Amino acid sequence: MIRVEFLANELGPAAGASAEPGDALVDVSDACRAPVSFSCRSASCGTCLVEVLEGASLLAPPSPDEAEVLDIFGAPAAQRLACSARLVARGEGLVRLRWAGSDE
Ligand code: FES
Repeated sequence: MIRVEFLANELGPAAGASAEPGDALVDVSDACRAPVSFSCRSASCGTCLVEVLEGASLLAPPSPDEAEVLDIFGAPAAQRLACSARLVARGEGLVRLRWAGSDE
């Protein structure tokens, strides 16, 4: 079991949920009503950028599409797209995230 927690921000209060290895971050976010804004949900707009504060090793490496968008946005290594990132296939622990995108 992996615990995923999202910090509070202007979009809403902190939220978190338990997730299974391999789960998509977007599904975890939806399930706990995380304060993360989504637009395209397909790795193109950058709205869902999140900073990984803890547990980066519990996220699978970016897909080519996610990596391309992260590169376009000049995202630091600690940032991922919440619509695209998945939890690793095996593991347990805590992932802490802070929304770093723009709602505009
Ligand atoms: S919602 Fe558009 S890149 Fe994630």
